[in-house]
Order: sequence, then C-alpha cells, then structure tokens
Amino acid sequence: MSRHVGILTGGGDAPGLNAVIRAVVKYGVGQKGWLITGIEDAFDGLIARPMRLRRLVPRSCGGLLQKGGTMLGTTNRGDPFSWRDGKNHAHDVRVELDRLGIEGLIVVGGDGTMRIAQRLMIEEGVPVVGVPKTIDNDLGATDQTFGFQSAVDCVTDALDRLHTTAESHDRCIVVEVMGRDAGFIAMHGGIAGGADIILIPELPWDLARLRAKLEQRRNIGRPFSLIVVSEAARPIGGPDPKGRAGQLVVDALKEAEPDLDIRLMVLGHLQRGGSPVAVDRVLATRFGITAVDLVSEGRWGEMVALRDGRVIGVPLSEAVKANRVVDVAGELVHTARAVGVELGG
Ligand code: F6P
Repeated sequence: MSRHVGILTGGGDAPGLNAVIRAVVKYGVGQKGWLITGIEDAFDGLIARPMRLRRLVPRSCGGLLQKGGTMLGTTNRGDPFSWRDGKNHAHDVRVELDRLGIEGLIVVGGDGTMRIAQRLMIEEGVPVVGVPKTIDNDLGATDQTFGFQSAVDCVTDALDRLHTTAESHDRCIVVEVMGRDAGFIAMHGGIAGGADIILIPELPWDLARLRAKLEQRRNIGRPFSLIVVSEAARPIGGPDPKGRAGQLVVDALKEAEPDLDIRLMVLGHLQRGGSPVAVDRVLATRFGITAVDLVSEGRWGEMVALRDGRVIGVPLSEAVKANRVVDVAGELVHTARAVGVELGG
C-alpha cells in the first residue's frame, strides 16, 4: 500500500509556501508514489465539519511556484489544543488521521505552529516533520527562512520609490516594516534601500540621536531623510509600541520640530503578499524536498533547517527553542553604522 502523508500550512502566510507544497507533491507523489492529502486552513481542515481536505497530485501544482500565499489556506487561530470553541481537539486530530489512513504530517509554519506540532507528537503520538516559515527570519534553528528575502525586496523597492519623492519635497519619510520581535527585515531592507536611520527593537531609540542625524543631513545639503522603523521598535524606556512604532517616531519628531515635513508609510501586509523572489523559491523547494526525504527515512520529529548552506533535519525540540534577534554587537549592525546609518540607540 502507498504511503499516505498529510500536509498543512499554519500561521501567517509567507511567499514560498506554495513552492514547498509543490516540491512535496512533485517529489512525494510524482517520484515516490505516495498519496498526499492537503489539509486546509492549518488544523482546522481536520477539526471543522465538514472537514476540508484535498488529494494533491502534481497536476494540481501547475503555476504554484511563482504564486504567493498558500493554496491550502492558513490561520493563526487554529490551535487544536485550545480551539475557537474553547475545547481541546488534539485527540480528534489523531483520531481523524488514523481514520483517513494518514501516517503523519508535514507541517509548514512558524514557531507557534511548530510548538503545536511538537505537542501533537508528544501528547497524541502524531508523527510530524516540520518546515519552518516566517518572513521575520527570526527562527533560531535555521540560518534563513523562505519569505524573508521577498519581504526585504519589498521594503527595498518601497525605499527606492520613496527616496525620489522624499528628495523632491525635502521631506522626512518614516517607513514602518514588519518583524514582530526582531529587526532583520528593517536592517536588511534598510541597508539595501539606503535608509538614513533604521530603528529596531534590539536597540531602543533616543530622540536626540534621530534629531542629530536629520540635522547632520541638512548641514550637508541633504534636507530629506528615510527612516525605517521596525514594528516592534520603541524609544529608550518606552513601552511596547502596540502597532504604533512608526507613528511614535513621527509624533516624537514632530513635537520636537514642528516645522519638520514628515510622512508615515506603513508597509504592512504588502511585505507578505505577491510572488516569492528566486531565492525564496529555491529555499522553499529545497525545504520541501528535504521534508520528503526525512519522512522517507522515518525521521519523524525533525524539522528541516538551513545550516551553513546545507538543508538538514534538526530535532523539532531544538526548533522551538529561543528565537533569533539582531546581534547588536554583530557584523550587520557594524555594517550599517559603517555606511553612516543611524541606529538610534
Ligand atoms: O510573523 C510574521 C508577521 O508578518 C510579523 O512580521 C507580523 O508582526 C505578524 O506576522 C502579522 O501577523 P497578522 O497576519 O496577524 O497581521
């Protein structure tokens, strides 16, 4: 009998999810002869009634490589251990998988989804192989996640566009970018887009330093500036910005310099949408293929990860350990400062 494996995507979407699904199906079904069932909207597809499942074959993957989002749908409100109806459906997941003859799951998601996958394995004995994803690139277990580069390219493109309008009007434009807990998108996008100031959660900012940088630019005949603000950046001693990181910077500068011509641009979910860039398509494909190899070798309980240029399997337990943040004493921060970027703190 053919091996039967399920695949689902959980948490926020990231460009490259479809490329993972395509790789898993092309290799798993096309070359290994498995049955693969796609489970829609993360674990909801197994918990909600009617169930939302679909058989995936290579033909269903046409045009997927370049498509953003996820053909299986996703949710970040679908934890089976504490579902929306207030009940614990973890055991139901196990029962349904057994009933369908699904041997195990390839779970594609961020740290939250990986934690759920690990609990399902430990508490319900559901075999899982994980594939990490987040545009934030803050999972400690892998050197890079797919979706990150696409988000960075989006920020870079936005800065290139905003540069010309900021320069024409002698304006200061604040660009708020994603990164729930870490400033990687801000650092990479900001450096690539030539930002003058980059503010990240790892380095709380000081208003005096921002003003000094604007002043310094005015003094060299550059009366415009681009300020990239990570969504979690906050002033020194300030509280969690709660979705107002960019606005806080605008308000503080405007209060200190009422004549400053300043605008705010929140890039938001633009950074998660659209086609994955080539780097993400390749990484997502490599992750998908390695996930199939791990299943083939019976290495349930592992997650694929990029380490020193190679995609390997690492224990899921390791994958859900501490997330990564920008090293404030590291080479990336040094690089930004060396090209004159003010980091605010
Ligand atoms: O973790 C990815 C991410 O895009 C973060 O950068 C951002 O804070 C969050 O997800 C937004 O999530 P939501 O889809 O719930 O708006």
